[in-house]
Amino acid sequence: MEICLRPWSTDDRAILADLISRVDRRYLSNRLPDPYTLQDADWWLNMVKEQDGREGLFRSITVDGIPAGNLTIERCSDVHEKDGEIGYFLDERFQNQGVMTEAVRQICPLAFQELGLLRITGLVYEPNLASRRVLENNGFVLEGIKKQAVYKNKQVYHLYIYGKYRE
Ligand SMILES: CC(C)(COP(=O)(O)OP(=O)(O)OC[C@H]1O[C@@H](n2cnc3c(N)ncnc32)[C@H](O)[C@@H]1OP(=O)(O)O)[C@@H](O)C(=O)NCCC(=O)NCCS
Repeated sequence: MEICLRPWSTDDRAILADLISRVDRRYLSNRLPDPYTLQDADWWLNMVKEQDGREGLFRSITVDGIPAGNLTIERCSDVHEKDGEIGYFLDERFQNQGVMTEAVRQICPLAFQELGLLRITGLVYEPNLASRRVLENNGFVLEGIKKQAVYKNKQVYHLYIYGKYRE
């Protein structure tokens, strides 16, 4: 199985919208429009074109050449500019095969190098065990737990705060 990261292109609107239509949103923020339209994809891909390599890294994940997910590290603002927040999701068909663990392994050194970050932050809702394992597998340290921080779909979750540091 070949897992690759590649930059998004503005031609990928249908691929992105299709991917997001099949993502498990239980532990994702509400920032992702629902339903996700081709116009939403255009807006995001144009933002990515402007900001990639400066304000963040935005990568499509492919598995044996098939679009399988999205992985981003976005620079935080103001005095947090040396911190980047990681975010990701995978098409359900590719889950639980080590894909995101490998994709995160590939992107972290790129983010430290290309964005000049000193740390990468991962924020995970407590029940999202797979996501917590992805970060732990990649040397992220659990720095704290923000209690009762998330309210989504009438459920309250603790927020697990992870950090990975530039060596
Ligand atoms: C979270 C997510 C990206 C994980 O990707 P993945 O490629 O399936 O993860 P991996 O296959 O690399 O597995 C990582 C670990 O999680 C474990 N795992 C996978 N699914 C699990 C589950 N439902 N419950 C508990 N552990 C699980 C795997 O066994 C593996 O453990 P190990 O390293 O100890 O062997 C994927 O499930 C997803 O896209 N979820 C929906 C979106 C989301 O929640 N994004 C993250 C928001 S913070």
